[in-house]
Amino acid sequence: MNIIEIIDKKRRGLTHSEEEVAALVQMMESGKAHDYQISAWLMAACINGLNMDETTWLTQAFVNSGKKMDLSEAGGVVVDKHSTGGVGDKTTLALLPMLATAGVKVAKLSGRGLGFTGGTIDKLEAIPNFKTSLSGIEFVEQIQKLGMAISSQTADLAPADGKMYALRDVTATVASIPLIAASVISKKIAAGADVIVLDIKYGAGAFMGTLEEAKNLAFTCREVGKRLGKSISTVISAMNQPLGYAIGHSLEVMEIVNLLKGKGPQDLEDLCVRLGGVSLVGAGTYATLEEAETRLRQELYDGSALAKFKELVKAQKGDVAALDDFSLLPQPDRVLMLPSTEAGYIANIDALEVAKSAKMVGAGRLSKESGINLGVGVLLRKKVGDKVKMGETLVELYADDHDHREALQVLKNAFTFSPEPVTAPPLIEEVLMGDVCAKGLKISV
Ligand code: URA
Repeated sequence: MNIIEIIDKKRRGLTHSEEEVAALVQMMESGKAHDYQISAWLMAACINGLNMDETTWLTQAFVNSGKKMDLSEAGGVVVDKHSTGGVGDKTTLALLPMLATAGVKVAKLSGRGLGFTGGTIDKLEAIPNFKTSLSGIEFVEQIQKLGMAISSQTADLAPADGKMYALRDVTATVASIPLIAASVISKKIAAGADVIVLDIKYGAGAFMGTLEEAKNLAFTCREVGKRLGKSISTVISAMNQPLGYAIGHSLEVMEIVNLLKGKGPQDLEDLCVRLGGVSLVGAGTYATLEEAETRLRQELYDGSALAKFKELVKAQKGDVAALDDFSLLPQPDRVLMLPSTEAGYIANIDALEVAKSAKMVGAGRLSKESGINLGVGVLLRKKVGDKVKMGETLVELYADDHDHREALQVLKNAFTFSPEPVTAPPLIEEVLMGDVCAKGLKISV
């Protein structure tokens, strides 16, 4: 099969056969197809789309390109929750101990951030000495003993996706629903969990700009999963304003500790509880979301989830004392306050602009190799719907001692106001459970 014919076929909007999709990925892997040829195909696929068969075959080809984690020794039903990414999204940190306390196993492979803020692995590195790279054996053993483990994503799972993603990143071809679905689902299948829960974000600070696109991505992911024998649950959540109040590594760890003490913030708690509830129903531990969510909220209020989080930190060699004494976490040089120049109600806080300002003070990477400042970030004092007086602090910018007037201006522009009371739009838009739970029973919620 010839790569030029494959590119030409997609350029003309025609449909590939399974053999053609497999050959494309194989030629990319072996170097028989050049980067510019894969890039040309990507652009054609982005513009003309891939149907569900082609998306499924691409997903399968990505899975086949590398290893598959074997979690059969983990000792129970294993859950993997994945978010398509958002500003202030720290749910993974809370879900590990919440789910492990509720009796299911959690296996989480996470990445570093390359966007405007860091990824989950970066956030964990704010806890001094936390070991974010476990060997396959360490990972499975810890899940067996403790019920949970988190480690950096290894390059040997779905490596063809890694290669294609790197090209998508530099050819403006990330924003394609079939390509995103194949990329996400292949990694989840290769990671080997029994229960897959996807948090699909939409809005200013997400890949999916609109609810309609998010629904489309959710449908595609569920359908591809089904065709490859994986029952996938999806939650669609809003990402117009940041999740919670904290954006930045130490700040997000502090917010998670407070959440695990039952002190909110409410939006973060609601989303963690919903994602956790969907995971527990998917695992077959609870029959209804209501029962599962009641259990999870109780863990936040009785301290058991926090105790479990401390066990996770200890097992991965992190400094547990830093969870009780936040001064042991990386600190900023100074904290700058942004006062409101208006009185009224907060109508919107543009998550993307907030993320840009966080990156400007050093909380995000400029390139894969560049460092990240774990002590800096943004702490919102107000959220959508809150009343604000003139001069009241809208947000605190945790920064180093450089000039940050530009970042403050970006933050200021992120806020819009209304003279009338504003009701925040719903955080959780749609929950679609997988068809069957890990015990093979039909899910009926
Ligand atoms: N996250 C992924 O892993 N892949 C994509 O294509 C987009 C987001």
